[in-house]
Amino acid sequence: MRTPFVVGNWKMNKTAAEAIQFVQEVAKGLPSQSIVESAVAVSPLYLQSMVTAAKDCPLEIMGENIFYEQSGAYTGEVSPQVLKEVGANYVLLGHSERRMYFHESDEIINRKVMAALEVGLKPIICCDETMGRQATGDQIHWVVSQILTDLRGLTDEQMKQIAIAYEPSWAIGTGTSATAEQAEEGCYLIRQTVADIYNDEIANEIRVLYGGSVNPDNIADLMAKRDIDGVLVGNASLQSDSFLKLVNYQ
Ligand code: G3P
Repeated sequence: MRTPFVVGNWKMNKTAAEAIQFVQEVAKGLPSQSIVESAVAVSPLYLQSMVTAAKDCPLEIMGENIFYEQSGAYTGEVSPQVLKEVGANYVLLGHSERRMYFHESDEIINRKVMAALEVGLKPIICCDETMGRQATGDQIHWVVSQILTDLRGLTDEQMKQIAIAYEPSWAIGTGTSATAEQAEEGCYLIRQTVADIYNDEIANEIRVLYGGSVNPDNIADLMAKRDIDGVLVGNASLQSDSFLKLVNYQ
């Protein structure tokens, strides 16, 4: 009953011309009636051109980040309301690389979640987990503590707009995915945490994604797990043929 969700995260890759070429190629291969929802998170510099290029195909073009205010003296930041205005319906928040290189705390991510919801952008909130924390058995506490703060203050209705991605940082860009069992364990933990904060109905409604070295060869095993509703994919989402294989994983 939860629509499978394949989300590409391009990070800081692709030129504007390459981005349009990707949309044209994907539009030819994407089934108009697919039961899988698909999206790519891209640079705000060419997001609007991609939205225009994708107008006749069901590919969502989404943001990789926003700021937590809608406008003001914040040089270089991306406004949530403008991202929505130029055609994004979803935005990634709290990606591991944002946490690591830009020192985003869960308090900041929580403010961004609120700012996104205020203008009708649906957040995909990422939580991570490091090898060190896993080795010391601290990963469960860590993942739960991130979610508790990221979701602070959300009403039931707001919570229903959220998707959460579990991305162990040791699996990101390494070519070594978590096993389907490890990924399911993380996604199950997230769903249970949402059930504890909210209720079973909301926990069963929201989508939980796994990310970290997902590719066309391992996606089906991951998607077969009960609590994995989608994938968040970096490298393997960059080429249109690979992205189409991901969307057509069944
Ligand atoms: O957000 C997706 C990402 O961090 C995973 O990247 O290249 O391991 O699929 P990759």
